[in-house]
Amino acid sequence: MVQLATNVGSLKLQNPVLAASGTFGYGLDLVDFCPPEALGAVVTKGLSPKPRIGNPNPRIVETPAGMINSIGLQNIGVEAFCTEVLPTLRQRGACVVVNVFGETEEEYATVIERLEKEEGIAAYELNVSCPNVNKGGMEFGHDPKLLASLVSGLRPLTQRPLWVKLSPNAPSPLAVAEAALSAGADALTLVNTFRALSVNAKTRKPSIATGFGGLSGPAIKPLALRLVWEVHRAFPQAPLVGIGGIMSGTDAVEFLLVGASAVQVGTATFRNPGACLSVLSELEA
Ligand code: FUM
Repeated sequence: MVQLATNVGSLKLQNPVLAASGTFGYGLDLVDFCPPEALGAVVTKGLSPKPRIGNPNPRIVETPAGMINSIGLQNIGVEAFCTEVLPTLRQRGACVVVNVFGETEEEYATVIERLEKEEGIAAYELNVSCPNVNKGGMEFGHDPKLLASLVSGLRPLTQRPLWVKLSPNAPSPLAVAEAALSAGADALTLVNTFRALSVNAKTRKPSIATGFGGLSGPAIKPLALRLVWEVHRAFPQAPLVGIGGIMSGTDAVEFLLVGASAVQVGTATFRNPGACLSVLSELEA
């Protein structure tokens, strides 16, 4: 038996492989391929106070070594998650990290206040880095002052760990990392998708309806590794969760080597719904 347990700050995880937000539904959608309780944790799709229908289709396109998405934070809303999903995740013994999204500071607070009424949530991951919405998301994650205000406003609402998922598109990723940590974040998730464009030469139009979207997958792995490495060098005590194009156990090791305590597998799940388990068993090997 290989000992894979790890900590992200104060949170103990049975292993360092997490399913990334937006690629694993709410934790139960892929149970036949990957039971959530087998992973270090599952990170839910970003939850907002009310359900959202997201952006118009088409909203995903495959690109060389990756994909671009512009989902627009479609989600079932925090209430439906608490009543329809969380009880089963709890019963299965899954470690649940809830990704939280709001268009305003108040909306982030509303989601956390509702989730605070529930048992069985290990941590919150603040989504301040979605590139596909006009309000919220990157707006907070690009501006150190706005981000510090958001995190310090949410900090008193919970004893649970607050992770902040950062944008690689921020003018200064180190400045936003510092802002989040100084305001009370327990850990940083690095990184969300890179703003990108795919054009269909036949239709002469963008491949997805909103034009730009967020690029993920192996294409971004070296960029994500560089950001994890830089943030780790600048803030060596800060717990980091690495994400960006992890397809194999070796990819996961690379993120651990540059300073991450755990990793998230995202785009790989679209190719193989059991990808998180493959990464885990390769890591173990
Ligand atoms: O469009 C989306 O729902 C993407 C979210 C994200 O990248 O955080």
